[in-house]
Amino acid sequence: MSEIVNRREFLNNLWKWGFGLVGAAGLWTTWDLIQPLAAAGFGGKVRGVAADAVPEGGVIAVPAARAYLIKLDNEIFALSETCSHLGCRVPYCASSGQFECPCHGSVFNRKGEYLTGPAPRGMDLYPIEIEDGLVIIDTAEAELGPAPGIITFDEPPLGPNCAEESHG
Ligand code: FES
Repeated sequence: MSEIVNRREFLNNLWKWGFGLVGAAGLWTTWDLIQPLAAAGFGGKVRGVAADAVPEGGVIAVPAARAYLIKLDNEIFALSETCSHLGCRVPYCASSGQFECPCHGSVFNRKGEYLTGPAPRGMDLYPIEIEDGLVIIDTAEAELGPAPGIITFDEPPLGPNCAEESHG
């Protein structure tokens, strides 16, 4: 009799363990689907900063995305820091309020639009989305920057260029 009870208990437990394993597999799969965003780096979706932390008219570097976040007229854009000429990193020059490529002298305004130099277009853009108040930059594929001559943000240099400062 006790052997029958033990066998019944064993089979009952086996079912419970089976459900437990199926549940654990489901949780693992769910975690696996969610995880890529958290772990993604350049080439995928990169968490930027809180959307509220991007000041109007300001420029914030997001090194993990190799991009800058800018906000103009209350709209946030993500500019690729990679020069559209030959791929140098383009720093932002706070004194001029422009992006100035140190390699061959291309200059872009604060919206990344082409101003001068050998670059074939403005700075490329990454799509962004706002998730729980955070800016998510999708670095999987950049949208080509605007062609030379397209200027929607007309602003003279705020001060001296960084390149001129460093050379003279
Ligand atoms: S790489 Fe920027 S101007 Fe050539």
